[in-house]
Amino acid sequence: MNDAIQKHLDYKKYVVDSKLRYFKPHASKIEKTFAEEISSSLIGNSKFITPKFFYDKKGSDLFEKICTLSEYYPTRTEIDILKNLSIELSSYLDETFRLVELGSGASVKTRLILDIFTSLQDTTEYFPIDISEILTESSEQLLKDYDGLHITGIIDTYEGGLEFLKNYDDKKNLIIFLGSSFGNFSPNAGREFLKKINSTMKSGDLFLIGLDLIKDKQILESAYNDSLGVTAQFNLNVLSRINDELDADFNLDNFLHYSIYNKEDQRIEMYLKSLVRQSIIISKSNLLLNLEKNELIHTEYSHKYSLDQIRELLKSVGFKINHVWIDDKKYFSLTLVSKI
Ligand code: AVI
Repeated sequence: MNDAIQKHLDYKKYVVDSKLRYFKPHASKIEKTFAEEISSSLIGNSKFITPKFFYDKKGSDLFEKICTLSEYYPTRTEIDILKNLSIELSSYLDETFRLVELGSGASVKTRLILDIFTSLQDTTEYFPIDISEILTESSEQLLKDYDGLHITGIIDTYEGGLEFLKNYDDKKNLIIFLGSSFGNFSPNAGREFLKKINSTMKSGDLFLIGLDLIKDKQILESAYNDSLGVTAQFNLNVLSRINDELDADFNLDNFLHYSIYNKEDQRIEMYLKSLVRQSIIISKSNLLLNLEKNELIHTEYSHKYSLDQIRELLKSVGFKINHVWIDDKKYFSLTLVSKI
């Protein structure tokens, strides 16, 4: 059997109506991965939880809330840039492009790009790829607001979704990866991920990536230690998720949200600090987790970049830079690239 067909058979297809359908990998695949990953990442001395697990329904809602906080500048800054790039971005697009988004389309940002597409096309195809089922809610809302829109949601990891997209058809894709989500990868995994995107793309496809820029430590640290404590709830929620889905007994009162800017490595580092010496059972991962008082579980990196580093990184994995947009304060960047 042809690889592309086999790939799509690993997914269950849900057709809601003529304008909306979803593909989702079979449930056992997702659950197994989560239990296994948690088991291997919490064994040993440097314990961590991969940030992609933040985004269950509650985590995704908390993240949406973070995006509205006054301290959290990335979202509003990126929106400002997007509001000003429509004429220039349109010049790279035409009626043959499809919009593919890594991440869900709940946001104003997707709408700003969809506005550009729908002004160029009678019918616009939109493929959001997101591990969280928040995708289903946001898709239905988008269809109410955009007449000519057709949505194919892929409820999977980004890598899984990209694999799904590869060889899907001949239509040109504009892949967007906004919000500096790329900054959450470790440098090596990030490079691999960019290579994966590059290898998914056909010549003629475009990739638009939003990346956070290096700035004052104080501005960065308050963005990840907000005064309302929403980022703390977001960080701690991953433990609730493990409790619910992997049958564990984390007591959230025994943990503290902790995040700092590491200037040398150009990244915010986020941790959950164990406030007491404790043992936690994670049944479905077959794990008894022992934590010392003050021991840290690493939950997220959020890398920040200079414009030169962004250019170098993208070029080094086989992209050609078409356009770079930044805001007046030089807080955030959007870079449009294509395959060399
Ligand atoms: C999704 N990602 C880009 C956010 C960030 O800024 O790194 C996640 C986040 N973590 C804490 N606040 C926001």
